[in-house]
Amino acid sequence: VIYQIYPRSFQDSNGDGVGDLQGIISRLDYLRSLGIDAVWLSPVYESPMADFGYDISDYCGIHPIFGSLRDFDQLLGEVHRRNMKLILDLVPNHTSDQHPWFLESRSSRTNPKRDWYLWRDPGPDGVPNNWLSVFGGPGWEWDERTGQYYYHAFLKEQPDLNWRNPDLQREMLKTMRFWLDKGVDGFRVDVMWHMIKDTQFRDNPPNPEYQSHQATYEKLIPLHSTDQPEVHDIVGMMRSVMDEYAQRVMIGEIYLPLHRLVMYYGMNNKGTHLPFNFQLLNLPWDPARLFAVIDEYESALPEGGWPNWVLGNHDQPRIISRIGQAQARVAAMLLLTLRGTPTIYYGEEIGMTDVAIPPHEIQDPQGLNMPDLNLSRDPSRTPMQWDDSPNGGFSTAKPWLRLPYNFPRINVKAQQRDTFSMLNFYKDLIGLRRREPALNVGSYRSVYSDKQVISFVREAGGNGFLIVLNLSHRPAYFQPSAFPFEGVIEISTEPERNGNTVTNAIPIAGDEGLIIRLKNRR
Ligand code: NOJ
Repeated sequence: VIYQIYPRSFQDSNGDGVGDLQGIISRLDYLRSLGIDAVWLSPVYESPMADFGYDISDYCGIHPIFGSLRDFDQLLGEVHRRNMKLILDLVPNHTSDQHPWFLESRSSRTNPKRDWYLWRDPGPDGVPNNWLSVFGGPGWEWDERTGQYYYHAFLKEQPDLNWRNPDLQREMLKTMRFWLDKGVDGFRVDVMWHMIKDTQFRDNPPNPEYQSHQATYEKLIPLHSTDQPEVHDIVGMMRSVMDEYAQRVMIGEIYLPLHRLVMYYGMNNKGTHLPFNFQLLNLPWDPARLFAVIDEYESALPEGGWPNWVLGNHDQPRIISRIGQAQARVAAMLLLTLRGTPTIYYGEEIGMTDVAIPPHEIQDPQGLNMPDLNLSRDPSRTPMQWDDSPNGGFSTAKPWLRLPYNFPRINVKAQQRDTFSMLNFYKDLIGLRRREPALNVGSYRSVYSDKQVISFVREAGGNGFLIVLNLSHRPAYFQPSAFPFEGVIEISTEPERNGNTVTNAIPIAGDEGLIIRLKNRR
């Protein structure tokens, strides 16, 4: 079980309103008690913070707002001492425009690092081609001094690197080794599918499904600017570095349809270990769709490819704000009973919701660049709600983003005291998952779905669990004729049912989820 921390918002230790490494260290016992295995940190490197750390100016340095390399070493030691793993964010697609590499590259056309970035002459319409920036507007920025454009898939402060350049490749792989040598357990690789572009820089075709309310980026299909065949060579190269070390993991951030996504496992699974499966992020919360997607994913996986699931991250609205409070526990049960590595986004375990940020307080460049489209990611990046003290125990100073009004009620401390809280529900689910190989490494088999319910079985070594999830608010009757069963309710969202014996047919409440330990599976 992986837990994603957005470091700016987890815990502030020095009273500047921004979270830091010492803050994270002070909360490691909390993470241990939650039962998670690994912590993934969003970027903590040196950065001008144009995109809150995804614009890196030194891959081997820690931004002073988060602490120092010594703090980092301490964090790594403390994580390992608690038998957990530490995963860093690697951002190889682009640097900050303040990175020394880019400063050199833009200094002259003949600079040895010129070719480390994507420089092009103007085309007939000004820009070299029609490629767009994910954050709005053209993907090209004019450089007056050297009279060429450079490409940036994200902000103009995030110039894209040229992964066809062998010197750049070597240098980036070196930065991976820098952290792996320290003992870091893996990387989540930022925008992996963006890493290499068409050699001829051909125009992207128009998107026939574009709708006018979408961001401008959706106007075109990024056919030539993303997901190029050569990306798999780059991923393979990175994987070889990982394989120089024991027990390391590479996770790829890849927003692609399933059939393209699974290519990132690579030939003979020598690509990325875990191409992030984002299917649960945008799917309508509809049993038929969900059921179909799980099956589609399971059957698209290559032989030996390990699955993974996630409900949220720092770029997406929080799960509760998408599906509603009542379904939050059903979603948690789904995440933690599906086959494959689950990633929890900080705060999910206490049911944190998106926080409305008034327009004049918006921090996220995606929100600021496209104000009419309501694309700010701030609402899901707000400070962790630890207790009911001022600023929720996150900081003694005014936090960089506000907390919601309900934090005195929804916080870790209050939920630790309440046996039936969301937090304790998460702990129970993770605990069961850890203890039971069937849930951890067992097989997945879909059983039944209708307009309200989905159900599936997880099995290993003769032990089986039947999971039944009511995705609607209305009660239902669960009686899958093709699947007679007998078992005991291990965990229900309605805890008074725990321990009850059930056979073949059961009433299930609205918004209820059940994990049933099956009898007689041999
Ligand atoms: C994906 C990251 O998750 C997001 O936060 C960032 O803005 C872009 N990549 C650019 O690095």
